[in-house]
Amino acid sequence: MEENKKDLELMDKIVSLCKRRGFVFPSSEIYGGINGFWDYGPYGSRMKRAIENLWWHEMVETRDNVEGLDSTIICHPRVWKASGHLDQFSDMMTDCRKCKSRFRVDQMPDPTKCGNCGSTDLTEPREFNLMMKTFVGPVFDEEHTAWLRAESCQPIFVDFHSVRVATRQKLPFGIAQIGKAFRNEINPRNFTFRSREFTQMEMEFFCEDAQGMEFFEYWKAQRIKYYREKLLFSDDFFRIYEHEKLAHYAKAAVDIEVKFPFGWGELEGIHHRGTWDLTRHSEFSGEDLQYMDHDNGRKIMPTVIETSVGLDRTMLALLCRAYDEDTAATAKEGMEEDVRIVLHLPPLVAPVQAAVLPLSKKLTENAENLYKDLNRHFRSEMDVTGSIGKRYRRQDEIGTPFCITFDFESGADNAVTVRDRDSMTQQRVNISQLRSYLEDKIGI
Ligand code: GAP
Repeated sequence: MEENKKDLELMDKIVSLCKRRGFVFPSSEIYGGINGFWDYGPYGSRMKRAIENLWWHEMVETRDNVEGLDSTIICHPRVWKASGHLDQFSDMMTDCRKCKSRFRVDQMPDPTKCGNCGSTDLTEPREFNLMMKTFVGPVFDEEHTAWLRAESCQPIFVDFHSVRVATRQKLPFGIAQIGKAFRNEINPRNFTFRSREFTQMEMEFFCEDAQGMEFFEYWKAQRIKYYREKLLFSDDFFRIYEHEKLAHYAKAAVDIEVKFPFGWGELEGIHHRGTWDLTRHSEFSGEDLQYMDHDNGRKIMPTVIETSVGLDRTMLALLCRAYDEDTAATAKEGMEEDVRIVLHLPPLVAPVQAAVLPLSKKLTENAENLYKDLNRHFRSEMDVTGSIGKRYRRQDEIGTPFCITFDFESGADNAVTVRDRDSMTQQRVNISQLRSYLEDKIGI
């Protein structure tokens, strides 16, 4: 990934804003933090939940042929034997004997040289398994070893039969899950981009092999549409990377990559996994996971198309895309020209969608009624402290798309002024029309 000073400065600014305004900060910070683990504060958890709900709505709630699942993080250890993770889920790592830095070999620009001190005195690369180990029960020995799941999709394959029987779904259909995954990453870095604990949003779509490529193309198109229309990604911000080297069981694989300040990085993978997963779990569990088509009496092992995206990475991508500083714009609002920090977040996932700002403390009671009403339909908040300019600035910094000023006229004309975060234009809107006005602008 190409790095330059300006982009690194931008990354620092984003990290600093996230901490200052309660989006994301290091886990266990008062103890010095723990590398690769992050906590989401009040605005961060709101935004994360909004992204998660949007994904669930688009992938499950609006589709009759996709079912939801909420499985455990710890599964039977043989799940990870069957999936191949215990034997193959590893990265090559090397240590610098001089400065003791540790590296993932595939991420080193020059694998013969330490990226920290330049020494060439490096240990022989060795394999390092990324699975996180724990113990189940009172005895800490081999027999009681279990693993935190390294991807949220494996339980989908394990539960395939139960879900199909319970829902009476016929092929083709999908099963989706949102949940935590854990990887003992050698080198967690780039803020939340590579973490050791993170959330995945995954959907496995089961179909007949003959339809595999058709559904691969279908899901690829659906996911691109989602990024364009819901998360408002522009064409210069994302690209499709086609895998040339495929796993032996896979027929096709693409990644959706986005432009982070530290370079292009994978956001989502869309993979044709063939019959690999169900076949392996059938072999290892002894349960036949084939699909019986009662209409024609045929038994087949379904082919799987997977869409897999990181929730933390989606949020990081949105924050990186949204962060902006402008100076000229503040003059428009009659304020001294200084830097306005603004997050141009998509209104659908902004942590606060509407902020109610009474022009005077005397108007607080009436404004509060409006706020309570709005808060039933939109993520809202009310801010009464400081000048109106300062309050706009606070809302800009957390990406609030609409600020609603309740003024001395509002009681008489039953109208408020709605200020748009991006254009900074203001429009008088009748309170009776406000909900539909905002729904229309937000795209609900
Ligand atoms: N089931 C397929 C699978 O897990 P993956 O490419 O390893 O595939 C899918 O992960 C997505 O999960 C990635 O595209 C990324 O968004 C997210 N992800 C993977 N490793 C991550 C990490 N260490 N930190 C944050 N997100 C991660």
